[in-house]
Amino acid sequence: MSRPEKFIIDGKRLDGRTPDQLRPIKIEVDYLKRADGSCYLEMGKNRVVAAVYGPREVHPRHLQDPTKAIIRYRYNMAPFSVEERKRPGPDRRSIEISKVSKEAFEAVIMKELFPRSAIDIFVEVLQADAGSRTACINAASVALVDAGIPMKGILTSVAVAKVDGVLVLDPMKEEDNYGEADIPFAFLIRGGKIESIALLQMDGKMTKEEIKEAINLAKKGAMEIYQMQREAIMKKFIEEGENE
Ligand code: CDP
Repeated sequence: MSRPEKFIIDGKRLDGRTPDQLRPIKIEVDYLKRADGSCYLEMGKNRVVAAVYGPREVHPRHLQDPTKAIIRYRYNMAPFSVEERKRPGPDRRSIEISKVSKEAFEAVIMKELFPRSAIDIFVEVLQADAGSRTACINAASVALVDAGIPMKGILTSVAVAKVDGVLVLDPMKEEDNYGEADIPFAFLIRGGKIESIALLQMDGKMTKEEIKEAINLAKKGAMEIYQMQREAIMKKFIEEGENE
């Protein structure tokens, strides 16, 4: 993949989207039978799976916290998920993504209800096309609901990038790799409203005004994703009820 000459032509992006448009999203709840909660999610060309286990006993025991559950989050990229084969196993990038995502979920999971236990969140990237950490957070949120983990709300994640001086929602790979800036966000949504920002990372440069504008654009995108997360969860529980 080489740098495109222009990112926006006649108001349209390379994949035909307008600057404020998300990529198509598909969400399937309860995708894995062995996990306590799971989700398969597509966000454009990203394909990710989230599996949640717990609350369960912590091993080794010295890692237990007598006051609350510990949250573990592992982001992993399959070697075949990217253009150039990725070496299997953790690297600096996946450790960083796991850390910031875990911290975002710590703000939303009601950990105090489960002292001495662990809640494990595994996310596997099968195909990546920029924004894989945001797709994983969206999938993990749904998997946590599927597992019945009590939460203060739900996390919804999307990035905003700057290309040709224009802010664009949910950047794909060309925009992410060759754009002027990129900010992945995760929002805590409670009672249908955005309550706070749980994750914000930034790569590149934006002015103060652009950052404000980026937050508003990301919020708009997050509310659209939130509706899809909700619909997927409702659909699963309605189907379950019908089968009983
Ligand atoms: O995926 P995300 O945007 O959260 O993370 P990134 O570090 O900004 O990576 C952007 C994109 O670069 C990924 O989604 C992949 O498509 C690609 N990438 C890759 O091709 N090989 C890697 N080892 C890491 C990322």
